[in-house]
Amino acid sequence: MLQRPVNLIQLSDCHLFADESRDLIGIRTCHSFANVVSMIKDREPSIDQILVTGDISQDDSLESYQFCRKVTSTLKAPCAWLRGNHDEMAVIKESDNNFASFFPDHIRIGNWVVLMLNTQTDGAVYGTLSSAELDKFESQLVAFQGHPILVAMHHHPVPVGSRWIDEIALRNSEAVLTLLKGYPQVQTIIHGHTHQERDIDHQGVRILGIPSTCVQFKPEAEGFATDDLQPGYRKLRLYPDGQIETEVYRLPAGTWIPDKSQPGY
Ligand SMILES: [Fe+2]
Ligand SMILES: [Fe+2]
Repeated sequence: MLQRPVNLIQLSDCHLFADESRDLIGIRTCHSFANVVSMIKDREPSIDQILVTGDISQDDSLESYQFCRKVTSTLKAPCAWLRGNHDEMAVIKESDNNFASFFPDHIRIGNWVVLMLNTQTDGAVYGTLSSAELDKFESQLVAFQGHPILVAMHHHPVPVGSRWIDEIALRNSEAVLTLLKGYPQVQTIIHGHTHQERDIDHQGVRILGIPSTCVQFKPEAEGFATDDLQPGYRKLRLYPDGQIETEVYRLPAGTWIPDKSQPGY
């Protein structure tokens, strides 16, 4: 068992295209993603695990997933993905590139367990946890009693205070949060989807949101609005006793500026 902290890197909401020159709201997503990974390479000498917490692709192309795999492989650490509302599993399953193995339902690193919850909902932008997924979650919580557990999901389980984003949150989050009351070894949930940094305490559970690797959404905006904050990543240091240290790092100010004339995405 590792006695030192586990170094985990979280990336999210890459929205990649097959054509690397294409942009989302004025930001060339393949390039901004590569910029963030390059910053990680410069900053992080020791990485135990990379998590990409959903919305990997914007155009459902196999090439977008291949791009994600190619770029993250330069970090020379295991990489696991979560599916977001933008990810098309049919593309992934039909590929001959074994992408299915990129979507584990849990990861063990040192004394830690990361539970990877699938909140993707067929045909919907909002998230739900199916009863099968909830049952699996509960059996994993029982199976890993005695280990510190980090829970990862794409959709946000607690509103961020932005009407349009909260309409597409995880719908049945109460089921998760109620379940967690019986499992105090889960202290923290990490999520993507909201394209903004967040670190709050909700009923004793720490909820951590993360910037996108491309477009940022303006916190607390009623309707769709972008932010000039830069793409970035989250680093988490998971200590063997269950403590977590975490920080978000971003590209230098002004590296990418969204096109504010676009009404949505
Ligand atoms: Fe997203
Ligand atoms: Fe999303």
